[in-house]
Amino acid sequence: MPSLSKIASDIPPSGIRRFFDIAASMKDVVSLGVGEPDFVTPWGIREAAIYSLERGQTSYTSNYGMIELRRLIAQHLDLRYDATYDPDHEVLVTVGVSEGMDIAMRAILNPGDEVLIPEPCYVSYKPCVLLAGATPVSIGTTAQAGFGPTVDQLRAAITHRTKAIVFGFPSNPTGATLSRERLQEIVDFAAEHDLFVVSDEIYDRLTYEGSHTCVASLDNAHERTILLNGFSKAYAMTGWRIGYVCAPADVLAAMVKIHSYTIMCAPIMAQKAAIEALLRGETAVEDMVGHYNRRRRVIVEGLNEIGLTCHLPQGAFYAFPSIKKTGLTSEEFAEKLLFEERVAVVPGNAFGIGGEGHIRCSYATALDKIDEALYRMARFLKKIGLQEELEAVVA
Ligand SMILES: Cc1ncc(COP(=O)(O)O)c(C=O)c1O
Repeated sequence: MPSLSKIASDIPPSGIRRFFDIAASMKDVVSLGVGEPDFVTPWGIREAAIYSLERGQTSYTSNYGMIELRRLIAQHLDLRYDATYDPDHEVLVTVGVSEGMDIAMRAILNPGDEVLIPEPCYVSYKPCVLLAGATPVSIGTTAQAGFGPTVDQLRAAITHRTKAIVFGFPSNPTGATLSRERLQEIVDFAAEHDLFVVSDEIYDRLTYEGSHTCVASLDNAHERTILLNGFSKAYAMTGWRIGYVCAPADVLAAMVKIHSYTIMCAPIMAQKAAIEALLRGETAVEDMVGHYNRRRRVIVEGLNEIGLTCHLPQGAFYAFPSIKKTGLTSEEFAEKLLFEERVAVVPGNAFGIGGEGHIRCSYATALDKIDEALYRMARFLKKIGLQEELEAVVA
């Protein structure tokens, strides 16, 4: 057989998928593993897509996406965050943030370029850099530093080959957010060194404390920022595969070229649904965020109670407790917990440097399942002899 691409062969499969596959083959598993809403897409949004199909709207759209949707996206960013984009030339509708990240990297990177990536972070950032032929440079962050990079760390990692910095706050897997001031420091650093800033803000609406800062709205940010966002999380639309990229016109034009040859356009039904989401989806978003917020408090309190130290995440729908006390690696912990107690979590090392010693527990699941998972985890910790005081919890 002819050989495969070296880059594709060398990229390891996602550490998240492996655990999903094992869990899916087992019975009676309580899953805190999945990073997607347990809600279905609100009815009004589904209905808009059904109605557009009934009217026979099944064609391609503009490569950029429908202008009505792009105008709504620009309006939404302007009203909510004071981030200004021209819907004609600075907004591209994509097949989710996943596609957005891929074409962003391919549009800005040349072989040999380096990209700074604060970790732990979402699993696709590094592979997208590698697939673009460039080199990811990991920067480990810690719970003590709020799981965000310091400017000193960025300064220590930069070389003359550094082209961009990629991050996403609120963060998957840590749930961390960064203050406006800290984000401004990162943008100032990027401006000082003429770097692109690629900001994945897919969890913007799932911010529980204070308000979300859109990186593109910061001083000196617009001309170097590639803003990625989408409908998957806030509107419970993971299966629709719809998102968007905003960037200065010349940067966006490069992305549109790649998008037009590889994707052509996002599906028209998903675009129709996204229009409805932006027009009338707000009440549903607020309702779902209210549920996540309640679950967040329950799971974090529960994890701390059973002995796994966990900071209160400010956004997204993940708790990221430390399992260091157990003496197990995050993979050992996740595997044993799955096989012995049938609770699925994701080992922290799947998310890069700084993830080891933690597990990611998604609370995008019903409260009774969270309670059951906590009960089983307490029993597991007792079995592996973590703490005596567990008697009281498990009894
Ligand atoms: C941080 C982050 N970015 C991007 C994605 C993928 O988003 P999309 O469904 O828009 O491709 C995910 C999905 O889990 C995510 O957690």
